[in-house]
Amino acid sequence: MCGIIGYTGKNNAVPYLMTGLRKLEYRGYDSSGIALQMANDIFVLKRQGKISELEKAVTPELFSFCGIGHTRWATHGEPSIRNAHPHLSRNSSFAIVHNGIIENSAVIKEQLSCEGYHFLSDTDTEVVCQLLEKNYKGNPLLCIAETLNALEGSYALAIIHKDYPKTIFCAKKDSPLLIGRSSEGNFVFSDCCASGVHCESIYCLEDYELAEITQSSLSFFDKECNPIEKTARTVAFNCSDSEKNGFCHYMLKEIYEQPSAYKNTVNAYYSGGDISFPLARFSSKLVCGLEHIYIVGCGSAYHAGVYGRYIIEELSGISTSAEIASEFRYGNVPLNENTLVIVISQSGETADSIAALELAKSKGAQTLCIVNVEGSTMAQKAHRLIYTKAGTEIAVATTKAYLCQIAVLSLLAVFLSDKKGILSAETKEKLIKEILSLDSAIEKELTSNECLCSLADRLKNAEHIYFIGRNTDYALSLEGSLKLKEISYIHCEAYPAGELKHGTISLIEKGTPVVAVCLRRDIFPKTLSGIKEVKARGAKITAITREEFRPLFGHEDNVITIKSDICDMFSPFAGVIALQLLSYHTAVKRGCEVDKPRNLAKSVTVE
Ligand code: M6R
Repeated sequence: MCGIIGYTGKNNAVPYLMTGLRKLEYRGYDSSGIALQMANDIFVLKRQGKISELEKAVTPELFSFCGIGHTRWATHGEPSIRNAHPHLSRNSSFAIVHNGIIENSAVIKEQLSCEGYHFLSDTDTEVVCQLLEKNYKGNPLLCIAETLNALEGSYALAIIHKDYPKTIFCAKKDSPLLIGRSSEGNFVFSDCCASGVHCESIYCLEDYELAEITQSSLSFFDKECNPIEKTARTVAFNCSDSEKNGFCHYMLKEIYEQPSAYKNTVNAYYSGGDISFPLARFSSKLVCGLEHIYIVGCGSAYHAGVYGRYIIEELSGISTSAEIASEFRYGNVPLNENTLVIVISQSGETADSIAALELAKSKGAQTLCIVNVEGSTMAQKAHRLIYTKAGTEIAVATTKAYLCQIAVLSLLAVFLSDKKGILSAETKEKLIKEILSLDSAIEKELTSNECLCSLADRLKNAEHIYFIGRNTDYALSLEGSLKLKEISYIHCEAYPAGELKHGTISLIEKGTPVVAVCLRRDIFPKTLSGIKEVKARGAKITAITREEFRPLFGHEDNVITIKSDICDMFSPFAGVIALQLLSYHTAVKRGCEVDKPRNLAKSVTVE
């Protein structure tokens, strides 16, 4: 949440900062701003709303060799210019940008107010800025270290001081911050994509470390300000990933990238007739000793976990549950060395998921992370790791990353049952063959675009939509419902098809839209009963199903059928495409900001 960019170098910082902010906009778009070092002063420019508002305010004569920028997702204080970063200290000597939450900011603010400090914003960040000014005795590094000692919570900070030209100071705890060296200058950013230029070396700042970045040098320090050596990492990043390549929206582009994202993910872990996860290092002994698997994540990553729960239990027989990370981290879940906790995250930066991972590690459980972003916090903290190979995902609504997560979970389910020795060679071969063929099944589904676009006309004016399904169809209903609600702002809820009659069915009235996911042959008759129950109360059905079931629906129902004969457990790979396209077209027809839905951000790095 919130994006940070800083540049110091031989060129004008402004274009680098603006490019960086555009690329980081997925992290928040409530307001943005830049602070530039001028002769003996710091110049600050801020605007409320999207980066385009700040762009309009940037004039060609703005020039500085060093500056910091920020795009905000509001936590403390409403979205406004007043609360936008960068924040200046009282005497304008310090300017700072911050990602994270300072949990004791109210206490510090009260103390500072008693000492005569006035606050112009409602943010926790301004408190840090005033405290820096208070603690400053001529050495910025020592002053930062002293200030950080007083803070509780999470922070990634980039700081400039008016008396230290062409220098940016940085610090981090529990929020990501990277430092990049390039031939055009040195950068600090929340995400590698932000530099917009190739950085030959990237350094990941660790918790409690400090950095001092100048035009020509990068220096790192521990929390006592002792110099430390850091090793550069190479982080694979394809800058072209962050372009729309002719699509109207990133979301649509990413939906269409799914066949190749899927193939890249499967090919990374399948070769020569077998599945292997080199960074996961699972032995047969460990797998055979597993008593329970928890799959933990937030939002769509949790939904992928619900799918994983069904398929792992179905194939391996290992008792498995899916857990919402923010609940898991504060629950009293029994964990020991015979439990495996799988944490799933696209970004690898989701605060609740990271906390869940740390809890599992501290309780001695086996842990595995399924992560998309290389070098992310979770990837660094993981004992065992499986990367999804979705590539860069920009749209806030995840599509290809979710698909790659369920791809990894399918491979993992086969792998675990094989390791347990309960999979016959014939079944293994059959399952793998089916997994290998899914990319073309996904491709075929993408051709339904037109029909889903016209179906969206029928849903676009709905106020409430209910999604129902059973087993993996239910897992998919959860994802379809989230996708539609987050980008179209229509209220959507997903329920197991058998659960509706225990209360929620009272909300069904004439014309209420119900999306029924009924792809599983084994339980189709049961789901059909649920469909009949809501139809009897006037529901208008949209079914995501198979061609062979079409005759069981009436002419008044909207029926979308998948185009390939996929087995039950892998049918979500086809069904999800229809649900994604339906959500996309409904949101476009409602005039919504598809890639940047209100109140959301791509990475939720705060609690
Ligand atoms: O980066 P993560 O996978 O940890 O993010 C988890 C959720 O915030 C994310 O899946 C969110 O629900 C998406 N916006 C859904 O489209």
